[in-house]
Amino acid sequence: MTDTALAPLLAAAASTEPTRIPVWFMRQAGRSLPEYRQVRTGHSMLESCANPELVTEITLQPVRRHRVDAAIFYSDIMVPLRAIGVGVDIQSGVGPVIEKPIRGPEDLQVLRPLEPEDVTYVTEAVRMLVAELGETPLIGFAGAPFTLASYLVEGGPSKDYRRTKAMMVARPDLWNDLCARLAAISAAFLRVQIDAGARCVQLFDSWAGSLSRQDYTAHVMPHSASVLARVDDVPRIHFGVGTGELLADMTRAGADVIGVDWRISLDEAAERVGGRTPVQGNIDPALLGAPWPVLAQRVRDVIRAGAHAPGHIVNLGHGVPPDTDPAVLTRIVDLVHAEGLGLRAEERAA
Ligand code: CP3
Repeated sequence: MTDTALAPLLAAAASTEPTRIPVWFMRQAGRSLPEYRQVRTGHSMLESCANPELVTEITLQPVRRHRVDAAIFYSDIMVPLRAIGVGVDIQSGVGPVIEKPIRGPEDLQVLRPLEPEDVTYVTEAVRMLVAELGETPLIGFAGAPFTLASYLVEGGPSKDYRRTKAMMVARPDLWNDLCARLAAISAAFLRVQIDAGARCVQLFDSWAGSLSRQDYTAHVMPHSASVLARVDDVPRIHFGVGTGELLADMTRAGADVIGVDWRISLDEAAERVGGRTPVQGNIDPALLGAPWPVLAQRVRDVIRAGAHAPGHIVNLGHGVPPDTDPAVLTRIVDLVHAEGLGLRAEERAA
């Protein structure tokens, strides 16, 4: 049944028929937009995140420009950690860098619970946004414990997460204490966004795809599940990169929608998670530079594959690359809105 009362994103997340196939893009706010670069001039990344007017403007830019079906809150997974006093800096061209990496139990003291008073600028920005957005839902987000831990333990971005995995298997007590604290912080950060009006949340376990299924289920999944259980009053999207082998477990952790990267097709993903969970994804971001007819065909393929799930939110398999021509994103939105329901119906009838 077509749900005309719900915004398309929320209808798809609830496995009811949306009035159009919803589409948004991870990292749609920022990066490729010239209007973003202009307003960011003279403000550091983390400084911008603490400025509600700036956050509101940056979050709205892609909604105005592309007519996407959701806004994603402009912030960063490191914002709640910085808010409780963790020494973290975002270095241009590098990413988050930690002043004093976590190596032993004495380093955990800094990870106290996050209180709403620590992030009043988030509450303020979300309220302003929700007032401006009208029917378009705002997606709140947080980093999952493993992905946050990887930055805290490594001290910055990593390729192989060796120190993180070593702590996980060799010092389980320390690891579990660290992740329980991070789970509480992430859940509190999501709660602040929900209480201020976010109507959906996404938990980013961006780097969980580096784990075996055995280690994911034993050492990571319980902590992500603990975050997701605390925000089950709104639809929860659970996403990671390279997580094809983990999708069933990530869904069991508590996802209402499973986010899928480009490495596995959405029909395969839908089957792996049991066929009852809506999917989000999964256009390969590297193909955004392909000639339009080729890219358009790929978008149609993604819609057809997504028709095998009870709901589909079109997105990329990961974030918008910084050198993307924003006009291409607008074209994708237009195509999904014009052809999406038809392609989905055709595939479901076949
Ligand atoms: O790249 C930009 O959009 C410019 C602003 C910016 C963000 N984070 C916004 C953001 C910058 C410079 C950062 C720093 C940062 N934080 C990096 C380096 C980014 C780069 O390419 O220079 C990284 C890797 C992080 C850590 C981080 N932040 C992760 C792993 C995630 C989860 C999403 C993902 O990419 O896997 C984030 C979330 C994030 N950072 C969001 C935004 C606007 C929210 C999610 C979204 O918009 O989809």
